[in-house]
Amino acid sequence: MKIFLDTANLESIRKFNDMGLLDGITTNPSLLSKEGGNPKDAMAEITKIIKGDVSLEVVSTDYSGMMEEGKRLREYGKNVVVKVPMTPDGLKACKSLSSQGIPVNVTLVFSPNQALLAAKSGAKYVSPFIGRLDDIGQDGMHLIKEIKEIFSNYKDSFTTQILVASVRHPMHVVDAAKIGADVVTLPPAVLEKMLSHPLTDIGLENFLSDWEKLKKGNPDVKI
Ligand code: E4P
Repeated sequence: MKIFLDTANLESIRKFNDMGLLDGITTNPSLLSKEGGNPKDAMAEITKIIKGDVSLEVVSTDYSGMMEEGKRLREYGKNVVVKVPMTPDGLKACKSLSSQGIPVNVTLVFSPNQALLAAKSGAKYVSPFIGRLDDIGQDGMHLIKEIKEIFSNYKDSFTTQILVASVRHPMHVVDAAKIGADVVTLPPAVLEKMLSHPLTDIGLENFLSDWEKLKKGNPDVKI
């Protein structure tokens, strides 16, 4: 399963990229707004740091506006995936951009039928938002299971990847991997939590204190 970071925060992107963990990035207007500053600088920098796919989202809601913005966004780099909303105009833009060789991520997907239609329109990725479904008392992960089953039934005709979005905690990641989702996009805080375990911290502390004891009898010893 590929791991994308769901952020426009350059510090987090550099940090996790230096650990070799990132296959790509997803952004949206809210994430860019959270960072402040000029979004153009952030988008340019992200596409430079990351070699894999970087989703940058349009803000127009009509077909021609999305096409114009999609082409402009693609100028940031060959790794740019244009993110369009799951609307009739979004799907029309998805079809046109995809047929011109520009990959598209259809975002704000909340039902299996929306995912099916996005795949029919030629999307490279569909982004089902599981956390937002959980927030309203529905089972976000069930949506991933349904989309996976549908795409698997037609794997000879669909190449669309399931990009699990709106992830809230590490168990979402485990469950998405068990289902066989193609990608998860994670807020930095979730990736941070996945890295750590209290037994790792205690184990390391013990190793270091035992080493200090050993050093008392061997003051010059080095590893
Ligand atoms: C995905 O591409 C979206 O940017 C994101 O996952 C939305 O998550 P949220 O529901 O936490 O805003």
